[in-house]
Amino acid sequence: MTVYAIIGGTGLTQLEGLSIRQALPMNTPYGATSADILQGEFAGREVLFLARHGHPHRVPPHRVNYRANLWALKQAGATSILAVNAVGGIHSAMGTGHFCVPHQLIDYTSGRDHTFFADDLEHVTHIDFSYPYTESLRGQLIAALVAEGVAHSGEGVYACTQGPRLETAAEIVRLERDGCDIVGMTGMPEAALARELELDYACLALVVNPAAGKATAVITMVEIEAALHQGMGKVKATLARVLAG
Ligand code: HPA
Repeated sequence: MTVYAIIGGTGLTQLEGLSIRQALPMNTPYGATSADILQGEFAGREVLFLARHGHPHRVPPHRVNYRANLWALKQAGATSILAVNAVGGIHSAMGTGHFCVPHQLIDYTSGRDHTFFADDLEHVTHIDFSYPYTESLRGQLIAALVAEGVAHSGEGVYACTQGPRLETAAEIVRLERDGCDIVGMTGMPEAALARELELDYACLALVVNPAAGKATAVITMVEIEAALHQGMGKVKATLARVLAG
């Protein structure tokens, strides 16, 4: 049986419409999760919800305990992770307010605890990560976006940078040359850890600003927050449709 877990990113620290049955404070062998895992009903279905940056938002992207978060969701019974991520738009199709369900990623992060297979050196495990997102789950997100009439791209390459600073314009030129379409700070190691735990995983990315150098104006938090605010209704409607499936 599929048990969905939603990992809410910036702008989605709580899931409006979720009737909470339990809040599970989770301590794991890897430390504490960003917040309690909320177990309840959303869109008529059992779901787990975790605020990636805590609730209220207090954990920056490079300090998120991704291992604890993924481990705890698996312990709580999750089988399929729907990750919501705010991103900057690199490709010209990725304007503010646009959605993308990436099919590939490139990891530019460093120094994050990025594997569950760190300590057992006798049994080194190399997971296949050629296709980092679960195709069937991507398909469910895309079908939901289509049904909701939300402008989106059903493919894209997600660049995950270390943050918390935004990129330089030259870094974005480089990412574009690498083939990246969107840029965020939280897609990795989350996706890889999900794969290590054999969890299905897909990302619903909302573009909240043009990436550095892609517009003349300075990127401000005010602009990002306004785009998040505007896009969240569509995020929730899309997630609800996937769950109602
Ligand atoms: N770069 C990296 N991460 C982001 C951005 C960005 O422009 N916007 C939202 N998250």
